[in-house]
Amino acid sequence: MDHSRTPVLDALAAYHDEGQIPFTPPGHKQGRGADPRVRSVLGDAVFRSDLLAVHGLDDRTTSAGVLEEAEELMADAVGAEHTFFSTCGSSLSVKAAMLSVVRPHEKLVIGRDVHKSVVSGLVLAGIRPVWVDPGWDAERHLAHAPSPAAFAAAFDAHPDAAGAVVTTPTPYGTCSDLRALTRICHDRGKPLIVDEAWGAHLPFHPDLPTWAMDAGADVCVTSVHKMGSGLEQGSVFHRQGDLVTPIGLRTCADLLGTTSPSVLIYAALDGWRRHMVEDGRALYDRALALAHRTRRLIDAIDGLRVHGAEDFCGPGLAHDLDPLQIIIDLSALGTTGYRAADWLRTRHRINTHIADHRRISAQLTHADDETTTQALLNGLRDLAAHAAELGHGPPVDLPAPRDLRLEQAMLPRDAFFGAGETVPWDRAAGRVCTEMITPYPPGVPAVLPGERLDEDVLRYLRTGVDAGMFLPDASDPLLGTVRVAVEE
Ligand SMILES: Cc1ncc(COP(=O)(O)O)c(C=O)c1O
Repeated sequence: MDHSRTPVLDALAAYHDEGQIPFTPPGHKQGRGADPRVRSVLGDAVFRSDLLAVHGLDDRTTSAGVLEEAEELMADAVGAEHTFFSTCGSSLSVKAAMLSVVRPHEKLVIGRDVHKSVVSGLVLAGIRPVWVDPGWDAERHLAHAPSPAAFAAAFDAHPDAAGAVVTTPTPYGTCSDLRALTRICHDRGKPLIVDEAWGAHLPFHPDLPTWAMDAGADVCVTSVHKMGSGLEQGSVFHRQGDLVTPIGLRTCADLLGTTSPSVLIYAALDGWRRHMVEDGRALYDRALALAHRTRRLIDAIDGLRVHGAEDFCGPGLAHDLDPLQIIIDLSALGTTGYRAADWLRTRHRINTHIADHRRISAQLTHADDETTTQALLNGLRDLAAHAAELGHGPPVDLPAPRDLRLEQAMLPRDAFFGAGETVPWDRAAGRVCTEMITPYPPGVPAVLPGERLDEDVLRYLRTGVDAGMFLPDASDPLLGTVRVAVEE
């Protein structure tokens, strides 16, 4: 296919050139009605190109097939049979993918380290999760995606499960053995859905970890805004093989999606594909070299440890690692990731990504260069020099990894929609939770609806909040109280 073409961007340019006049939403009419104070911050270009997809970018019946052509080009670029664009993030794409393989009350085999959007899918569709334990690194208190053997064991115990969902790369950049996992699913005739929200860049350089379509997975979802140049919420899902039909996937996406997709988001997805096909290899040659250099320099700072494959990969741990995710253990500095992240933002205007009781992470992409990594290094060197001032604060009461796993006592949907009450956190042990309680980032629920709470997990979260953990989705983000089911 001709990858110099960008159907969405070209149609947008034509709309402007032709002087089309909208008597349709959006009401700002290419910015004419927008408050100049808003335009001065957002820029006129945002409003100018914010138009309807149907009867705007394309005509009333989408006869030009603008979006379809852009999706075909994306599928061709990454070797998928079909690609669908989504403007509601992978939070929507992953739900659509789940609904396309499983019906209400059926089982789905799922790694317990999933993002909260997968749990929302379970609640909405009444799916019965068969949880697979992650690979726990007990020494570092970190979860990696479950091993293929763990998925195989789950299928053996639940041969009626409709398919499987795995998250890889994890937000920590660690990856599963996707080829082995695909084999396990396909030997049983079951589809594999890969939540590859963090893997938009993987198809475009051979030194990056294997990506889902290459490994033979049936569906994968990717947030192009996370590691690529998509605008926020720009997500795609790719599909191949016979186990998930394009119609099924499209229908499920239609069920959940907006009827007013953002053309801005489509345009950025379209442009990203051309950029990657034409320049991706060179851009990631440079990005990978920069990442390896930066990792070495950070690791050389006293008190900081950058985790590499030697820490994260091996039997029972991860299969591979994306070097662009720089995970920094700073426990030797005697402070927490929460305090370090806050200090770096306040003192150096450096925004790190993950912050937990002992780590921070810095995500590099093709957009970084020596200027940005130098700022990061300056900030981290200064942090190491001032660590004593930061202090440690209250300790987080961390249970052993196996004690973090709670019993799924009710279906997530039954717990979420059933009768509930609010109780003080220190009276919630033994009760079934009706809500998600999710440390953010990275957004993996520590507790989800239907799980029976215990003292270890409650104490971990409560002490975590005191130490700086952020629980935005809990009904009480400070966890003074918890929502639990009223049981007979
Ligand atoms: C593993 C994983 N899946 C899905 C999502 C949801 O993606 P989005 O933010 O594009 O909705 C996230 C977001 O952080 C994630 O980490």
